[in-house]
Amino acid sequence: MDLKLRDKVALVTGAGSQIGYGHAICLTLAEEGCDVVCADLDYDGAVKTAQQVAALGRQSLAVKVDITRQDEVDRMVAGAVGKFGRIDILVNNAGASSALRPFIEMTEDDWYFDIQTNLIGHLRVTRAVLPHMISRRYGRIINVSGGQGFPTISIYGAAKGGLVQFTKALAREVAQYGIIVNAVGPGLARTGLVWRAPKEMLEEEEKASLLGRLCEPRDLAPVVAFLASDRCSYMIGQLVQLSAT
Ligand SMILES: NC(=O)c1ccc[n+]([C@@H]2O[C@H](COP(=O)([O-])OP(=O)(O)OC[C@H]3O[C@@H](n4cnc5c(N)ncnc54)[C@H](O)[C@@H]3O)[C@@H](O)[C@H]2O)c1
Repeated sequence: MDLKLRDKVALVTGAGSQIGYGHAICLTLAEEGCDVVCADLDYDGAVKTAQQVAALGRQSLAVKVDITRQDEVDRMVAGAVGKFGRIDILVNNAGASSALRPFIEMTEDDWYFDIQTNLIGHLRVTRAVLPHMISRRYGRIINVSGGQGFPTISIYGAAKGGLVQFTKALAREVAQYGIIVNAVGPGLARTGLVWRAPKEMLEEEEKASLLGRLCEPRDLAPVVAFLASDRCSYMIGQLVQLSAT
């Protein structure tokens, strides 16, 4: 099936980690014909991903951004629109968690870090991109959710749960402008984010998987590509959860 993504412009946050979900999403979108803005706190990583997008024959732009800072977000969106004239697709993928700790041991700084990074940052990026999509009456937004209800990442999970609820409401607000908003829930994968997770937790998940392995970025990227495409034409505000248990 041709996803008809040729010449669309995508902005992907959290694109810098070379073992992360964002990296795989950028390369899959490029393979499908998108030009890609690769944005990350880690500029060197964003540059590497942008170079790989260019090697696939598509245009790319690497941007350093901290999504928790409105000035940096505004600069990123202005740079993307300045270069490409528009943003068709936004993938809110950046994510991080504070130290893994039971709730009772977490500090308020930990709470703020988790909520700023995994919820408010995405609100900031979405708010900056939406006017450009509304004026063109076209857009696709995919929010990357994540583990909810797991011990030691309670506030990260609360932020991710909030992102799902935001997805549902926003989808219903902006469908009238031709903007389709959905969320994806990746499975547990050995990305940059998970390197601190206890080895036993990863082994347990691997054992529980009926496919005999953990999730990998390449499992998620085609799902995002579908949600980013015009083939996703009658589905709004949904969470597509990857799971093999
Ligand atoms: N790995 C998993 O098991 C898993 C499971 C469920 C959900 N997720 C989600 O997948 C998404 C991608 O994470 P990943 O697992 O690929 O981890 P990763 O650490 O490999 O990639 C995350 C990227 O986000 C960037 N980032 C972090 N904070 C940022 C900020 N404030 N501004 C801009 N960029 C920032 C990091 O620099 C990094 O490049 C995240 O939203 C994460 O919560 C991951």
